[in-house]
Amino acid sequence: MASITQIISWIVRDIYHGWNPLPLPPAGSFGGQTVCVVGGSTGLGLAAAEHCVNLGAAEVIITSRDMHRVGVAKEYLEEKAQANANAAAAATGGGEAAGSSPPFRTECRVRAMILDMNRYGSVVAFANALKEIRRGQGGIDFLLFNAAVIQARYRPSPEGWQEELQVNALGNVLLALLLLPWLRAERRHRAAPAHLAFTTSSASLSNDASKWEGWSASGEGVLNHWNKEEYWPPGLSGGYPVSKALLMYAERELEKLVVGPDGKPWVIINSMEPGMVKTEIQRHVVESSSFLQFLAPIIIPAVFKTSENGARILIMGGLTTEEEHYAHSRQSDGEETAADRME
Ligand SMILES: NC(=O)c1ccc[n+]([C@@H]2O[C@H](COP(=O)([O-])OP(=O)(O)OC[C@H]3O[C@@H](n4cnc5c(N)ncnc54)[C@H](OP(=O)(O)O)[C@@H]3O)[C@@H](O)[C@H]2O)c1
Repeated sequence: MASITQIISWIVRDIYHGWNPLPLPPAGSFGGQTVCVVGGSTGLGLAAAEHCVNLGAAEVIITSRDMHRVGVAKEYLEEKAQANANAAAAATGGGEAAGSSPPFRTECRVRAMILDMNRYGSVVAFANALKEIRRGQGGIDFLLFNAAVIQARYRPSPEGWQEELQVNALGNVLLALLLLPWLRAERRHRAAPAHLAFTTSSASLSNDASKWEGWSASGEGVLNHWNKEEYWPPGLSGGYPVSKALLMYAERELEKLVVGPDGKPWVIINSMEPGMVKTEIQRHVVESSSFLQFLAPIIIPAVFKTSENGARILIMGGLTTEEEHYAHSRQSDGEETAADRME
């Protein structure tokens, strides 16, 4: 369970990073890459997709449940890509004609895809469609699993799980399980491993997990326990901290599945924590309380970062090294991470 000291240290850290954003990686860091941001229609996901467009990606794929929303986001990213291409052409005085091409690719294709993590069928259909992209040519270079919800009330998904468990944990893990064998197989067509990063949250550390093992041992199961409405965790974030903790536990198991016979990760897996960021995700919680409606306009601008700032942290998940595959368990050892290198 997070202590008051920990919570205060997170708030201080977020205020600090609000004023001192992580520097962007060098131009062309995603040069020529194919990037997929799951949950890229808005907030942090859209900002991460924009960074990848600006940092030289050849193709950026974004997902949403909603055709219109993802269409608007796609148009926005296409405008950014076009502006980059125009700026690069102007800088080289007409590009190839002037005999000096830019050091990294400046044209970027943006693709919008539909995905609803609340439904297994949608996850399977999306995974099958994604696996056709660059099949046999290395697949996707960087996958950012960013989709999540926070609900203020208990809401079951069509699959029978409480919605945060379904979307934030089960949907993400199912998608990873469906894609990892393909990404692993694509390793032989690649010079370096692909990257998969989950967007996590400090909220995952606020659980008291001391009883979880007992629920497993008794046969009830941790998921079944938290899926019961009577055990719906009280407090502002509902099932969100539980769902994010389950995702982190699952990530540790997923990391083992991608280690090749050479003992190296054939896909580099990490979790990235953006800190507190002003996005739409808090809306249900804020709307549910008149006290929070009063407090939010004061607290959010003072403490929460912009999406552009928070997404700088998320894209580091696409730039980590093989040694950082188990980064979360090594950070306490003081090893340098991709984000540290940017500081
Ligand atoms: N904001 C923060 O302070 C904060 C702090 C720590 C971690 N995070 C994490 O950052 C990530 C992005 O959150 P955000 O703050 O940017 O929130 P957001 O603006 O609400 O964006 C959430 C994204 O998830 C997608 N999504 C929601 N439900 C989905 C579903 N059932 N199936 C597929 N996609 C779904 C949304 O797409 P559509 O609605 O278009 O389908 C949207 O693109 C989340 O993983 C969140 O837990 C946020």
